[in-house]
Amino acid sequence: MNLPAHGRGAGKVILLGEHAVVYGRPALAASLPLGLVAEVGAGSGAARLESDHAQLDTDPRLAALVAEALAILDLPAREVVIRVRSELEPGVGLGSSAALCVAVLRALASAGSRILSREEEFRFGRRLEAIFHGHPSGIDPAAAALGGGCFRFLRGDPPTIAPLRLARALPLVVAMSTRPRSTGAAVTGLRARWEADPTRYERVFDDVASVVEEGIYAAERGDLEGLGRAFDRNQALLETLGVSVPEVEELAERARRAGALGAKLTGGGAGGAVVAVAAEPDAVARVLAASGVRTIVARVGADAAEGRAA
Ligand code: PMV
Repeated sequence: MNLPAHGRGAGKVILLGEHAVVYGRPALAASLPLGLVAEVGAGSGAARLESDHAQLDTDPRLAALVAEALAILDLPAREVVIRVRSELEPGVGLGSSAALCVAVLRALASAGSRILSREEEFRFGRRLEAIFHGHPSGIDPAAAALGGGCFRFLRGDPPTIAPLRLARALPLVVAMSTRPRSTGAAVTGLRARWEADPTRYERVFDDVASVVEEGIYAAERGDLEGLGRAFDRNQALLETLGVSVPEVEELAERARRAGALGAKLTGGGAGGAVVAVAAEPDAVARVLAASGVRTIVARVGADAAEGRAA
């Protein structure tokens, strides 16, 4: 094997359409400039993974991830150690599990002199992500493998991933709530409500789909006010779906009061991060950070993104 070898996977932020995307509606997402880096080096004994994050280190699913990635690439399962460094906070809805899967896959592929196509990275990344999340829509590994820019996503086999052509980069603030969350629990809870009253929920999903298309139209034209209105309307629909919580609504309201043009939960919801669009994202982040909220400011474009965490 070629050692050491590196791989990177990008985090993501869902701008519009989470949850409805599981039911076949479109979503708008962007890869984040922050991600996760894996380095494969020489080790002894069985292949293992070490990380700089205590929460990851104790996760029993990591052994399954390493074994499955080695099997996909047809590589020997011994004498390597994979060290992982994360720039993403895990468990807040920024796609750290999928970024980990894609980073490990890319690092091992590079160690084994395998060149993976984008399509293979996405397909294998999705297979690996299922170790963490059951039956995800696939939006996270799409962002992790794409690694830059904003895209429309429609689930399917294969999914439809359409990068957007934006008039200007979108200035975003991601703010972390302190409320812990579980995407799996939010998805399962919504599934039970949908089964009890599919007509009602399908109608709400259709409303989400309209908001997503309006938001995409605004984003492509650089209309930040229009995108902000789509964020707020999507947040109201997420509340109707029962996947929001007061802490997140309060944080979104604080972002709006600090100057954001719109704000909503992002990802699984019921806690985790809020995403806001703002003409002056640094000013919004400063106000939130002054009361102890951790933030990321990111400017996401069609094929490149820049940003920083505070
Ligand atoms: O919480 P995250 O970052 O895993 O995002 C979940 C997004 C959902 O639409 C709720 C589920 C999915 O698989 O798309």
